[in-house]
Amino acid sequence: MAASDLARARHRDPDGERGSWWRHGVFYQIYPRSFQDSDGDGVGDLPGITARLNHLNDGTPGSLGIDAIWISPFYRSPMADFGYDVADYRDVDPRFGTLHDFDELLGQAHERGIRVIVDLVPNHTSDQHPWFQEARSSLHNPKRDWYVWADPKPDGSPPNGWRSVFKPVGPAWTLDKATGQYYLHLFLPQQPDLNWWNPEVRTAMDEVMRFWLDRGADGFRVDVAAALVHDPRLREEPTASGARRRWPRYWGLPDVHEIHRHWRKLLDASGDHMAVGEVSNDPARRLVRYYGRNDELHLSFYFHFMQQPWKAGAFRRAVAEFEAALPEGTWPNYTLSNHDRPRAASRYGPGRARVAMMMLLTLRGTPFIYYGEEIAMTDVPVPADRVVDVDGRDPERTPMQWDSSDGAGFTSGSPWLPIGPDSGTVNVERQRDDPASMLSFTRRLSWFRRSSAALRWGRFQAIGSSRTVFAFLREAPGERLLIALNFSETPRRLRLGSLAATEPARLELSTDPARRPGAVDLRRLELGSNEGVVVRLRQRGNRWTADR
Ligand code: NOJ
Repeated sequence: MAASDLARARHRDPDGERGSWWRHGVFYQIYPRSFQDSDGDGVGDLPGITARLNHLNDGTPGSLGIDAIWISPFYRSPMADFGYDVADYRDVDPRFGTLHDFDELLGQAHERGIRVIVDLVPNHTSDQHPWFQEARSSLHNPKRDWYVWADPKPDGSPPNGWRSVFKPVGPAWTLDKATGQYYLHLFLPQQPDLNWWNPEVRTAMDEVMRFWLDRGADGFRVDVAAALVHDPRLREEPTASGARRRWPRYWGLPDVHEIHRHWRKLLDASGDHMAVGEVSNDPARRLVRYYGRNDELHLSFYFHFMQQPWKAGAFRRAVAEFEAALPEGTWPNYTLSNHDRPRAASRYGPGRARVAMMMLLTLRGTPFIYYGEEIAMTDVPVPADRVVDVDGRDPERTPMQWDSSDGAGFTSGSPWLPIGPDSGTVNVERQRDDPASMLSFTRRLSWFRRSSAALRWGRFQAIGSSRTVFAFLREAPGERLLIALNFSETPRRLRLGSLAATEPARLELSTDPARRPGAVDLRRLELGSNEGVVVRLRQRGNRWTADR
């Protein structure tokens, strides 16, 4: 990092901001269909989540030490996209429980110091939502304009060539035969897009947000947050391939920022609330547009990071770009898996889950762990006759593996997706008391992070340019940590230059259970294959010394 970038990085880390829970806490994403089934129907539910809260945080290092959960949609839904097609924004789907169950979950989570954010799906509703049912009932219905309608071309074909995203990619328009017009849907035909140019839609979504905030929710993960606003003239894209290469006219229009600014005000005015947006796969320089001037969404997922190949340099670069691009006062975030992408442990291959977790929990920024990542769950092969998702995402959504029973402790019934064939060994019960397990490692790391100001909100400084080892410092007053992650299969000697020569150091944590904490000589420290370490350095006031 150049000196000027470093100066800006320092400036950008105002200690006054360190208290925000969504900055220094660890988030955990729960896909509710797959976390815990409490009634034997094979589908996870809200009471199931409540029953498992102690796994996440019971106040002791025997739990994961999670600070906040994001629950994917549990609203009433026909489940064409497993809840991302909402038929009632203010009720719980009976498969997941009741509003009372939600209140119970929230109360129990808050008692444990766990905040709860819910999934806001503002871009589209279900075609079964009463708003859409009304809208499609006639050309003149007052709700007609809540959705995006257009006449067919003279030959009867869709109004323009806009494409929906699920494979096989098809037109983003479906003809409503009764009224003779097409409606827009960026996703399935069962997910008609709302018309965000209509102020009534904006007000209606504010009310949805207030509904959940009033119940006690702590914020929102915002689905498809960048694509709400469409070109009102419905202009054609230059070419179909062009539309796939860059953001077309129906994704990411600058007009969306006004909506995000409005939400930020609503959230900040109503308490210590937050929103994290699913906005884009953009590299950092473009992603940061969604942070605005620290006046838009509190966080925007940095999926570009998740898409990096398993190379130290690739991650170092992705982090440096994010750190350099973040507007003043804003905060990074990192995630390696979610319900839409193959799991990290599958993408990166065996033996790398621990070093990936160490990177996630030691970078400067809010980490999001995906359920099952703490035991290194991998994608589960789903036979053709059990495929249920329209877009091939079943393998990363299979039931949480709690124990080695038939239903993996997830269900007493027949699970909605197959249980992983490795559930006999890769499960919470098996790993709980094994100090060498992935789960024990994740807990140690998470609780170490909780106790470390440097990791929660301290400064970040990358060190060196090794092709195989990603090393960085984290520093807060009174604490300096060196993190070194070996991305290669072969052992590597750390090359730390003057830092190694001058610093007495203590190894705090390693991904290798055989390596014990204790004094280390940085001049001789060798990392094993796929090993990551956290090393405490002697504190030297509050100065950076790594790049001297
Ligand atoms: C993004 C969600 O993460 C994904 O699961 C969903 O299918 C689409 N948005 C549409 O809501």
